[in-house]
Amino acid sequence: MSSELKKIERAARFLQRRLKISPTIGLVLGSGLSDALGELEQKQRFLWEQIPHFPRPTVMGHAGEWVFGVLEKKSVLISRGRVHFYEGYSMSEIAFPIRVMKLLGIKRVILTNAAGAINKDFSVGDFVLIRDHINTIPDNPLRGENISELGPRFPNLLDAYSVRLRALAKEAARDMGLELKEGVYVATPGPMYETPAEIEAYKRWGADVVGMSTVPEVIAARHCGLEVLAISVVTNMAAGIGSDKLTHEEVLEITKRREGDLAKLLRAIVAKM
Ligand code: HPA
Repeated sequence: MSSELKKIERAARFLQRRLKISPTIGLVLGSGLSDALGELEQKQRFLWEQIPHFPRPTVMGHAGEWVFGVLEKKSVLISRGRVHFYEGYSMSEIAFPIRVMKLLGIKRVILTNAAGAINKDFSVGDFVLIRDHINTIPDNPLRGENISELGPRFPNLLDAYSVRLRALAKEAARDMGLELKEGVYVATPGPMYETPAEIEAYKRWGADVVGMSTVPEVIAARHCGLEVLAISVVTNMAAGIGSDKLTHEEVLEITKRREGDLAKLLRAIVAKM
């Protein structure tokens, strides 16, 4: 057995010994998007630093926490915060929480992120269902020895973003009277925002939104057979698309403003799952 799998098993065992519920849905919430879901029933909270082998905080701040509980009558795990490639984490570290979710018995993950819009039909504040991705991050969690207990050496990424879950999300949005766009997400390594020339190139490739997260986690999730749903919040028009100069403050401000509606949408989706 690979030493990585041993670590994943140890982390899962640590949690299983303490958990009162068996979660089947995992929600990974991006920066500024984790507060509005409200309190969970039968809530249990673990800081990542308490769980064996979880990614340790970098100089940039705290890594994250996992909150377990019941939401809309479903046993869920909410991952508040995540780690990014641009912070210096390795792909194994980024994939680690997703793999622990798999061993905990989770079947479906919903990932959210902040993104810049490349598609001019999108506006700041829009929610975009990710239909497919393009990965420009120069590494991925499956490079190196395959953890064959989790999945195949050469997994395919057809239908990486579940058609079934996307239909369900559209239905939930329709019920709420909320517009849900759909598009292709391009992942960049960051931490710098893109140049206008890069955005122009990504547009020609067919990308609609751009961000610095999610894709490594989706690759790890699909490798181990989890069903994936991913939603971007458009926090800005991408470089050269809008007139503004991009700032992290702007991204945080828009995510805060859209957090309430996103939480409502996530609740409605979880209720239908
Ligand atoms: N580019 C990359 N990542 C982002 C952006 C962007 O424009 N907005 C929010 N995250």
